[in-house]
Amino acid sequence: MTVEWKPRLSVLADELTAKGKLKTARWQAAFRSTPRHVFVPVYFEQNDTGGWERVTVDHPAALDTVYSNTALFTDVDEHGAGVSSSSMPGLMTRMLELLDVRPGQRVLEIGTGTGYNTALLCSALGDRHVFSIDVDYVAAARERLVALGYRPTLATGDGIGGMPGHAPFDRIIATVAVPHIPAAWVDQLADGGVILADVKPNTTAGNLVVLRKRGDIAEGRFDSGQAWFMSMRHPGQSPDPVPADRHPGPATHSTTRLSAQAWKEQPVPWFLACLDVGRDVQIGYQLGDDHQPTTLTLSAPDGSWAEVDMDGSTDGQEVRQAGPTRLWDAVEGALAEWESAGQPKWDQLGLTVMPDKQWVWLDDPTNVVRRMAG
Ligand SMILES: C[S@@+](CC[C@H](N)C(=O)[O-])C[C@H]1O[C@@H](n2cnc3c(N)ncnc32)[C@H](O)[C@@H]1O
Repeated sequence: MTVEWKPRLSVLADELTAKGKLKTARWQAAFRSTPRHVFVPVYFEQNDTGGWERVTVDHPAALDTVYSNTALFTDVDEHGAGVSSSSMPGLMTRMLELLDVRPGQRVLEIGTGTGYNTALLCSALGDRHVFSIDVDYVAAARERLVALGYRPTLATGDGIGGMPGHAPFDRIIATVAVPHIPAAWVDQLADGGVILADVKPNTTAGNLVVLRKRGDIAEGRFDSGQAWFMSMRHPGQSPDPVPADRHPGPATHSTTRLSAQAWKEQPVPWFLACLDVGRDVQIGYQLGDDHQPTTLTLSAPDGSWAEVDMDGSTDGQEVRQAGPTRLWDAVEGALAEWESAGQPKWDQLGLTVMPDKQWVWLDDPTNVVRRMAG
């Protein structure tokens, strides 16, 4: 079967150009010549009951989906969680533009996944300048890259340690979220080099940050747009902390005017709150009979918990919380702090990474708003 991908790719490229997500000649050329379906021959789609259906890209509707600005899950685990995906093409091109990479520079990508973004890098920079690591999927990515004539340096392993045997790199781009910037990445970056990564102290809180290295410090601002990458996993480690017994209470009741969807609607104060309560706080939803979320739940390793109903009245949503860590109070506190600081946007916040500490700042690196673990 002849795959009619070129007209579809051209329409998608025009759409991303119009949205300002694809700008420079280098990335225009790379994007417009790289077939995504080669890297996403199969993807998973969620049905109405939350189950996953495997879709093979061998018919026009599936091809339309692959050539749309959509993230596609390419692997799901036995619990139904997505463990690899091909990110939204517009997010990839936005990140590649932000990376500000020049010909001749060496790039390390963390999170090879399908190999699609690796192919874009190879197309723009030449494969000998491209290095990529993933905990899995590398064999399939290599085959697809070879089919297009690319032989970048690929490795299977935990990207938290970078690829020390091939350092230094001029650019490090992570397409997987990290709770803080790993020290190895700064070590393996050349002076003047750039790290672009999604920093998320927990799965729902954080954003892309662009850091430039000077001496042994990497520093820069968060990006104005919002990105959501899946969290890094580490072979041999359980992804989530073992939940403690739920604190028996009694629970206190209050109301909140902050949406239970605050992680989406108020991402900056939510990020600050999550830095306060710690990365091991788990966030979930209770679902109603129609599989739609009805209550947000937070739970901490010390057994503390909070629940926020999602069907609030004009007075706000009901909150119940118990245990030594007042989880929702931390969220309310961060909201009040953010409001009194004039509701700063993402790009007013920055991150400084030193060998022994990292901190989040507002407007200027000396104005520390949170210390990061790490
Ligand atoms: C959003 S996908 C990457 C998308 C990819 N760049 C593409 O173009 O298809 C995230 C990837 O990060 C990988 N990952 C998770 N933990 C990792 C780790 N510790 N080191 C390296 N990669 C990791 C996952 O296996 C997954 O393939």
